[in-house]
Amino acid sequence: MPQHVQGVIAPGRNEPVRVETIVIPDPGPGEAVVKIQACGVCHTDLHYKQGAINDEFPFLLGHEAAGTVESVGEGVTDVAPGDFVILNWRAVCGTCRACTRGRPWYCFATHNAKQKMTLLDGTELSPALGIGAFAEKTLVAAGQCTKVDPSVAPEVAGLLGCGVMAGIGAAINTGNVGRGDTVAVIGCGGVGDAAVVGSRLAGAAKIIAVDIDDRKLDKAREMGATHTVNSRTADAVEAIRELTGGFGADVVIEAVGRPETYEQAFYARDLAGTVVLVGVPSPEMKLELPLLDVFGRGGSLKSSWYGDCLPSRDFPMLIDLHQQGRIDLAAFVTETIGLGDVEKAFARMHEGDVLRSVVVL
Ligand SMILES: NC(=O)c1ccc[n+]([C@@H]2O[C@H](COP(=O)([O-])OP(=O)(O)OC[C@H]3O[C@@H](n4cnc5c(N)ncnc54)[C@H](O)[C@@H]3O)[C@@H](O)[C@H]2O)c1
Ligand SMILES: [Zn+2]
Ligand SMILES: [Zn+2]
Repeated sequence: MPQHVQGVIAPGRNEPVRVETIVIPDPGPGEAVVKIQACGVCHTDLHYKQGAINDEFPFLLGHEAAGTVESVGEGVTDVAPGDFVILNWRAVCGTCRACTRGRPWYCFATHNAKQKMTLLDGTELSPALGIGAFAEKTLVAAGQCTKVDPSVAPEVAGLLGCGVMAGIGAAINTGNVGRGDTVAVIGCGGVGDAAVVGSRLAGAAKIIAVDIDDRKLDKAREMGATHTVNSRTADAVEAIRELTGGFGADVVIEAVGRPETYEQAFYARDLAGTVVLVGVPSPEMKLELPLLDVFGRGGSLKSSWYGDCLPSRDFPMLIDLHQQGRIDLAAFVTETIGLGDVEKAFARMHEGDVLRSVVVL
C-alpha cells in the first residue's frame, strides 16, 4: 500500500519551500523505503530551489540523511528492514566503463529508485540527488543505503551522505593531500570545513582557511586550520603565497563554486600544485584564464564530485574514525530543526550563521 508522509518540496524557481503530503510507493525490485531520522541542509538544496541545478520542479529536497530501512523490494540482499543506513547519491552500477575499469567512484550510471514519489494529485516529484530526504520516509535504490554502526547519532551520521564526505574526500581522495603538504581551503562552510578536517587527517603541515566571514574562520580554526585569511580584507592569493614561503599551497580546495574564487585557487597554488573544485557553479558562470598560465604552471586542475568517495568503503571508515575521536563530525551540527524550518535554515545559511542545520524527525 502506498504511504502518505510529510515532506519538504520546492514548488518552483525561487518560490519558498513548503511541507506537503508525499505519496511513497511500496519498494519495487531493487528499491528500499527508508524512515528518515535526520537530514542536513546542504547548499546544494538551495541551488535546487533557485533552479540552478535543473528545471525539473517540483523537487523533494534533502539529500544528506541517515535513517532506518523500513522495507525492501524484490531481490534486495545487501540491506534489510531495521538496518541503520546513511543514504548516498552514488549507488555504483558495477557495469559502466568507469566501474569496469576499477574506478567505481566515477560511476557514470548510478542507481536511483525507478518508481516516482508524487504529490497527492499525482504530480511526480524530482528527489534532490535522487534522494529526497526532508521527509518522514523516502524511496531510494537499495544501493543508495550504506549500512553503518547504529550507535552513531543520526544527525551526525547523515552528514557523511553529502557535504562532509564531499569535503573530506576532496582533500583525501581527489586532492591526494599527503603528509607535510600545504593546503588552502577557500570557502569554509560545511564542505570547506570538512576539507580542513580531511587535510588534517591526511597529515597536512599547514592548512590555510579562507573565507569572507570571520565567524567561519574561527570555526575553521577549531576544525584544524592552522592559519586563516579573510579575503574581504586581504588578497587571498598574496596571503596564501606569503604563508607558504612565497610559493603557494600544494593543494588548494575551492569550496564556494564561483569563478573569482576558482581563479584565486588557480593562482594560490604552487607550481605543479593541485586545484580541487568542490563548490558547485551555476550554469551561467564562465571562467577566463590565460591558457599559457594553465600550461606554464603545470600540475592538475581537478573537480570533485562527492569527494570521489565510494560509500561502502568510506562511510564506515569515517564513522570508525569519528567513534575513535580522531575526527569530530558532531562539530558540524550547528542546530537541529524540524521539517517546517527548512526555509529559515536557508536564510541562516545565506547569512553565514550555520555550518549545518539538521532536520531531525
Ligand atoms: N562537489 C560536491 O560533491 C558537493 C557536495 C556538497 C556541496 N557542494 C557545494 O559546495 C559548496 C559549499 O557548500 P556548503 O554547504 O559548505 O555551503 P555554505 O553556504 O555552508 O558555505 C559556503 C562558504 O563560502 C563562503 N564564501 C562565500 N563567498 C565567498 C568568497 N567570495 N570567498 C571566500 N568564501 C566565500 C561563505 O562565507 C561560506 O562560509 C556549494 O557550492 C555546494 O553546492 C558540492
Ligand atoms: Zn558504474
Ligand atoms: Zn549536498
